[in-house]
Amino acid sequence: MSDDAITVDPAQAALFTLEGKTAVVTGASSGIGRRQAIALSRAGATIIAVGRNADALDAVMKELHNGGVAVQADLATADLSGVLAEAIAMTGPVDILCNTAGVNLREPAADISRESWDLTINLNLTVPFFLARELVPGMQKRGGGKIINIASLQSERAFANSMAYGASKGGVAQLTRAMAEAWSGDGICCNAIGPGFFPTALTAAVFDNEETAQRNAAQTAIGRNGKLSDLDGVTVFLASAAADYITGQVLYVDGGFTAK
Ligand SMILES: NC(=O)c1ccc[n+]([C@@H]2O[C@H](COP(=O)([O-])OP(=O)(O)OC[C@H]3O[C@@H](n4cnc5c(N)ncnc54)[C@H](OP(=O)(O)O)[C@@H]3O)[C@@H](O)[C@H]2O)c1
Repeated sequence: MSDDAITVDPAQAALFTLEGKTAVVTGASSGIGRRQAIALSRAGATIIAVGRNADALDAVMKELHNGGVAVQADLATADLSGVLAEAIAMTGPVDILCNTAGVNLREPAADISRESWDLTINLNLTVPFFLARELVPGMQKRGGGKIINIASLQSERAFANSMAYGASKGGVAQLTRAMAEAWSGDGICCNAIGPGFFPTALTAAVFDNEETAQRNAAQTAIGRNGKLSDLDGVTVFLASAAADYITGQVLYVDGGFTAK
């Protein structure tokens, strides 16, 4: 049989397509969020890409396969009830929310100020809840949706100089279950991806230190740190009909870090 004769089973393809869907991705200007926006777009979704850095957002928009709208906003201070209204008027209602924007300020406990604590908890934990709550009524009206939060190895265990970050990500794991409890009955599946170590601006301090990077890689079962492309499949999967009976879960994409 020649390669030309190979066809994709349409029912199987329908499980993973995001054609006709609109996805909001926060943190789309960089790192994991940027990669998720591109992966969702490749699967057919129209993207509402949210971040503060306008130039970086413009660059991401050019990489999208299926178009979308950039929203420049500081989510830590924005009015979350109105921040997406203009974009949604252009794209149509939102089916998928990736709550990916986040910070890790890497401060020793003694140096954490009330401001840095509040910023970390706000952006990493509070914003995902309130942004989701803004979008849930629309998803309910349409009979369902997908919410994908970003947890962390620090949802499970502590690392040095990350008390506020760890508290926020422990919260994200529980927020994900609570969202699932509240909204899954309306067809809204709420899950989190728990990345291991991926090279982004947020983990520059980790990857700049060769010894630390190698120690983290050795701690995985697979024997390497993550590549951003390792997140493509899980993002599309959790956003797609293939994951319609999966909710309230934290799916670790960590090369087996948490298993070992
Ligand atoms: N990299 C890893 O190994 C790893 C592991 C576990 C979990 N995570 C999580 O993955 C998520 C993405 O992080 P990353 O590694 O991709 O880091 P990153 O490259 O630094 O991206 C962080 C994103 O958050 C956005 N952001 C930060 N503050 C914001 C604010 N006030 N308002 C709006 N957007 C804001 C940034 O956009 P602007 O700068 O344009 O505002 C950027 O797009 C975070 O939740 C992080 O905790 C990462």
